[in-house]
Amino acid sequence: MSLQAAPAPGKQATTWWEDAVIYQIYPRSFADGNGDGMGDLHGIKSKLPYLQNLGVNAVWLSPFYVSPQADAGYDVADYRDVDPRFGTLQDFDAMLAEAHERGLKVIVDLVPNHTSDEHEWFQAALRSPKGSRERDRYMFRDGRGENGELPPNNWESIFGGKAWTRVDDGQWYLHLFDTKQPDLNWENPEVREEMISVLRFWLDRGVDGFRIDVAHGLVKAEGLPDWAGRESMVGDVKNPDALEEAASTEPTPPYFDQPGVHAIYREWNKVLAEYPGDRMLVAEAWVEPAERLFHYVRQDEMQQAFNFDFLRAGWDAERLSASITESLVQAGKVGAPSTWVLSNHDTVRHTTRFGLQDPTQLPKGVGARDEQPDEALGLSRGRAAILTMLALPGSAYLYQGDELGLPEHTLLDDAVRQDPAFFRTQGVERGRDGCRVPIPWKSDAPGFGFSTNDDGASPWLPQPDSFARYAADTQVGKPGSVYELVRAALRERAARHLGSGTIEWAPAHNPSGGVVSFVNGSVQLIANMGGSPIELPDGVVLVASAAEAVEDGLLQPNNAVWIEA
Ligand code: NOJ
Repeated sequence: MSLQAAPAPGKQATTWWEDAVIYQIYPRSFADGNGDGMGDLHGIKSKLPYLQNLGVNAVWLSPFYVSPQADAGYDVADYRDVDPRFGTLQDFDAMLAEAHERGLKVIVDLVPNHTSDEHEWFQAALRSPKGSRERDRYMFRDGRGENGELPPNNWESIFGGKAWTRVDDGQWYLHLFDTKQPDLNWENPEVREEMISVLRFWLDRGVDGFRIDVAHGLVKAEGLPDWAGRESMVGDVKNPDALEEAASTEPTPPYFDQPGVHAIYREWNKVLAEYPGDRMLVAEAWVEPAERLFHYVRQDEMQQAFNFDFLRAGWDAERLSASITESLVQAGKVGAPSTWVLSNHDTVRHTTRFGLQDPTQLPKGVGARDEQPDEALGLSRGRAAILTMLALPGSAYLYQGDELGLPEHTLLDDAVRQDPAFFRTQGVERGRDGCRVPIPWKSDAPGFGFSTNDDGASPWLPQPDSFARYAADTQVGKPGSVYELVRAALRERAARHLGSGTIEWAPAHNPSGGVVSFVNGSVQLIANMGGSPIELPDGVVLVASAAEAVEDGLLQPNNAVWIEA
């Protein structure tokens, strides 16, 4: 069977995003240009040559808007301005202009499900009476119980604890995430108009697209009914598996993947179409099965959706092959490109996950008291996984540090943690800080060169000593490094148009035996996820995951190669 993402076979991509490799920048942890210990737009601008040299096509910036940072910027207080911690609108314009000059597209993050409680709308809602226009922009309800002392329903926050907070006059407001992230009311036309106006604000500035946060959450089921998935609570603490259950339990939770969300994206699709240059939307939607996820990328909706099934497959040939097949089949049905992603700012880095005893685990953070990964094994598998991902047709996402093989910080002191999920679950979830640790740029500078000025403040989260081995200056231009591996793969991927290709499973493909192998145009990928060396098919090795990947003509376990097909 031959499997392809859009465009049709033999046709090269006609829009930039169909086959783009997009690099996620988490601004607070990428590069610090002003020495305050937190990353910023100046820092990002200074590293654009590094990204251009790597060979990615675009960057996606996590939020840099005005925000009290209760959820690292996913709590927006002003959608039309830059937080002073990150710079100014002029800095954004300068960064965007330089990215464009270097041939890099720029996608920004839009957070439409909720605002910060410090947003002027929410402040006005607090000052206004029950039933007012100001309150109707959010999800205020009376409570249950004799005196309204119980929350309006049994929903729980994704970060743990109740999804409702009571205000002074006794009403409750909904927050699927932190108390400081009140959900907007998407039944209210004013909310819809406002978010379109925000889209236009950034489109007018020249951004190439948006990553849509919690794209499956905007519309809630009518009447806000209780959800049976409530059993996932353990006392007042969320069961660590609650999010997975929320995504997989039937019926769909009343706050996710409601049919009404699609009308919103149809409207946004039209707004984007008014602008030149193939602007795009990519959905962050933890929706299963794949068929439902691909509803978000029907021709008149968004352009892409993150494929978290691929991320969840872990280091497992059977799960990975099944995920690839299903994604390409479903993508083909709606004529959209598939996307591929291994890590992001919400998940334990794949190099660490792949070094755990069960490399299909997706823990909610790793702490000092948890199983520690086999770092070398995880790195070796991480290199092979990136090579596998970059051979696939469609669009691939790299998370900052993936190109360095960076591991999770698994020994962070609880005292320095900042993720609200850690606090709201009383530490049951270690949280996401470990994948958000500032990038090491120089192996022997303070803070590993995170601040471009050497006497800058310490990075906002401490880095482990091991980061010295991963620092960019030990990798750029150094044969055999992860950076040079990714660079070589990106060069071949572009030259051979793998992103707009078609795959066929190769004769060597044997998922139950731990082997993933497919042919995409002139390249055969072969990844050894099993325990013993395997024979390599004939052909020149174009890229190998490591110097020791092939010995005596045998592909070693935990390695992958691209062979000229
Ligand atoms: C998904 C974002 O990726 C995550 O970091 C954030 O906490 C939630 N959405 C809430 O905005």
